[in-house]
Amino acid sequence: MTTELPEDLLQAALEVRQQAYAPFSEFLVGAALQTTSGEIFRGCNVENRSYGLTNCAERVALGAAVAAGFRQFDLLVIATSGGVVPCGACRQVLVEFCQQLTVFLVDVDKDPQAGGFVQSVELAELLPGSPTL
Ligand code: THU
Repeated sequence: MTTELPEDLLQAALEVRQQAYAPFSEFLVGAALQTTSGEIFRGCNVENRSYGLTNCAERVALGAAVAAGFRQFDLLVIATSGGVVPCGACRQVLVEFCQQLTVFLVDVDKDPQAGGFVQSVELAELLPGSPTL
């Protein structure tokens, strides 16, 4: 399945990445989650000097959406240096709410016109065998 990355969702992830509070890792993450009805929720990573209390961008976005009354999602964009995949904890939290989720990994170090700027992967590939899928 080939899914297009909506421009507004991409811009939301890039913008919210600038809000990341990451003084310890200096690794900025922006996440933009789109509901099946088209709303966009944003999250950035929020670190803490007690490192284990750090919140990942994906879970911040998901929490904002759920708090606003939305529980169905179909697209997620994660913007990072290097275009990294979500951590295991975030995969598990996302799968709680997503039957099918296309995850776009954006590498902010790459030229948007060049190959490799955006890659996509299905959540089911990132967390195979999940009991809720
Ligand atoms: N981080 C995220 O926000 N999402 C990910 O998918 C990977 C990791 C954050 C946690 C921490 O603030 C920093 O990136 C370095 O791990």
